[in-house]
Amino acid sequence: MKLLRLTVNGDPVELGVRDEETLLQVLRERLGLTGTKQGCDLGDCGSCTVLLDGEPVLSCLVLAATVEGRSVETIEGVAGADGLHPVQEAFDEVGAVQCGFCTPGMVLASKALLEKDPRPSRSEIRRALSGNLCRCTGYVKIVDAVERAGKAYPA
Ligand code: FES
Ligand code: FES
Repeated sequence: MKLLRLTVNGDPVELGVRDEETLLQVLRERLGLTGTKQGCDLGDCGSCTVLLDGEPVLSCLVLAATVEGRSVETIEGVAGADGLHPVQEAFDEVGAVQCGFCTPGMVLASKALLEKDPRPSRSEIRRALSGNLCRCTGYVKIVDAVERAGKAYPA
């Protein structure tokens, strides 16, 4: 066991982790943040995407012990006191959510993109989300949602 201190959704967290434990396991099993989904557990599907210091990472491939002192944002931290984040609102409004399994990862990857570039082209959106698989939507509505959400950001 190694003592791990990090920030999760703005809150300081301290817990003992095993060398082999992944960030995904810590989030879901130790902290109860089950919004981060476990799909392939192999780095192929993107459903476990979280933001690590603002950058999307596949939490199934990140050893928890390596995130000492860092800041993690999960889907549970995305909505603010005033309600849903613009990316979440846009996904809802355009019908980009079907079963919802891919949605937390999609929303976080989209948020990271829009924070760097609020007016990405459709091909840039597709590229940014290329590691996030969706078996339901055909992706068109997801790209629509990201375009729409970008309009809520200052240009
Ligand atoms: S669960 Fe991490 S990439 Fe699929
Ligand atoms: S909405 Fe079902 S996997 Fe994307």
